[in-house]
Amino acid sequence: MHRNIAEILIEPERLQARIAELAEKISADYHGRTLSLIGVLKGSVLFLSDLLKGLKLDAHVDFMMVSSYSGQKSTGVVRTLLDLKESIEGRDVLVVEDIVDSGLTVDYLLKNLKTRRPRSVEVCTLLDKPSCRAVKVPIRYKGFEIPDKFVVGYGLDYNELYRNLPYIGVLKPSAIKGK
Ligand code: IMP
Repeated sequence: MHRNIAEILIEPERLQARIAELAEKISADYHGRTLSLIGVLKGSVLFLSDLLKGLKLDAHVDFMMVSSYSGQKSTGVVRTLLDLKESIEGRDVLVVEDIVDSGLTVDYLLKNLKTRRPRSVEVCTLLDKPSCRAVKVPIRYKGFEIPDKFVVGYGLDYNELYRNLPYIGVLKPSAIKGK
């Protein structure tokens, strides 16, 4: 275990098993259709690539990068840093997120994407912290509900570190700036 991790919340085997289940469900729900996955950079990249490998569908992949976080704190203002390359007009869209916390990021993304006239748009998140919600957001596919703890690993970072850890872990307070 990494020296700055206090506790492992989700082991790699549990992550893979749950992602395989989500891929099965999504494949069944969109059977016979082409799905446009939108990965929200950077936190979703490991989840997106494992999910994608499990899909038994034709799939497009595109990315967006939005920002509202600095360190552990949300600034509350979401803005687009990188936009889609492709049009999503008439497409079935699935937004792939690492974690839904306040819900502000997903709320912003859904409002933004709906203006582009997709056929449908749904949300798939690996992690959900429901106790932190500031705005209600519809989540169609969810990997795990977790408690109100700042987590890293499997794509999720703290100040750009720890994305490479193969598990979801809780940071030690000593590894957090200002504590
Ligand atoms: P929201 O807008 O508050 O729902 O936050 C969504 C984004 O905040 C996620 O896509 C993450 O990038 C980041 N985030 C929220 N909670 C955590 C966490 O516990 N660890 C790492 N990143 C987080």
